[in-house]
Amino acid sequence: MLVGSKNYRTIEASEDQSYVKIIDQTSLPFKLKIVHLKALDDVIKAIKNMQVRGAPLIGVTAAYGFALSMNSDSSDDALRKCKKDLVNARPTAVNLSWAVNKTYDALIKIPIEERIELSWELANNLANEDVDKNILIGLHGYNLFKTYNKKTINILTHCNAGWLATVDHGTALSPIFKLFDEGFDVHVWVDETRPRNQGLSLTAWELSQYKIRHTVVTDNAGGLLMKEGLVDFVIVGADRVALDGQVCNKIGTYLKAIAAKENKIPFYVAAPISTIDINFSGKSRNFEIECRDSDEIMTMKGQDKSGSIVEVRLGNSPAYNPAFDVTPPEYVSKFICEKGVFDADKIRDIVDL
Ligand code: MRU
Repeated sequence: MLVGSKNYRTIEASEDQSYVKIIDQTSLPFKLKIVHLKALDDVIKAIKNMQVRGAPLIGVTAAYGFALSMNSDSSDDALRKCKKDLVNARPTAVNLSWAVNKTYDALIKIPIEERIELSWELANNLANEDVDKNILIGLHGYNLFKTYNKKTINILTHCNAGWLATVDHGTALSPIFKLFDEGFDVHVWVDETRPRNQGLSLTAWELSQYKIRHTVVTDNAGGLLMKEGLVDFVIVGADRVALDGQVCNKIGTYLKAIAAKENKIPFYVAAPISTIDINFSGKSRNFEIECRDSDEIMTMKGQDKSGSIVEVRLGNSPAYNPAFDVTPPEYVSKFICEKGVFDADKIRDIVDL
């Protein structure tokens, strides 16, 4: 996506394939900082401390983790270490284990001397495929939303499922970019998304860069906005989608879905098929809901008057910081993926397509 006059992806291999360039998302919205990852450890740290984040992007980043590791050691042991360490970097988004398993399975069966070249090819392909899928999500979403016969389409979104959460274009924001490109007057209500403020820091920044009208609201404002007729639809991304249509996404998504249903407002989920977990269905949750450091709640980062980034402490009480929740399928109006637009109870069919 364009930032100023320059086109960026969130992650890119260097020309000589010795390092990977990422946009450091912990510096936004204050500074667009590019960081170079040179080894597997750098990749793991970047995923853990959320310099890269968002389900599709952490999957692609992990694939580059294999490539960087193969540069120095292409042995089976090195491959096994990549697999173990990368999968454990963050537990909730299934895209991470999907990308790790796919990359590991392809590399383990080929001769050691071919692994460097193939690992870079696999990571680059995964990155390019992510972009293609997101463009399709944008198109399918656009075809669904262009029928809204309104002067301004008011959309509410939670967390960041824009281009920063993917390699480019985003999932939930991709149809919004497309609506805007096609001349629709869109306005986005951006949930700040405490505690890490991905909405306020990342989604709002993306929308400003694209010149899309938007307004940041507290996470608790959505119910009021919906009740007062100020939201036409809600759209979010996903970290894991069950075969029966349950959607695991950033903490607070479930509350938005409940408010949307109560107010008869459509609630859409946009994600690539790689976000569907074929082992997740019904009551048996087979994955961990990431619980992050309580300091994320008890501190806040900002910019002081001199422009320096400062962190302030908000209190000293114990805090509990689950990072994701699960929305039941009856709250999901439609699921938008690269293959089209589906009812939540048809997720099983998409996997079989
Ligand atoms: O903890 P994060 O910032 O990685 O959480 C991201 C989300 O919850 C996104 O909504 C989700 O990954 C979809 S990204 C296209």
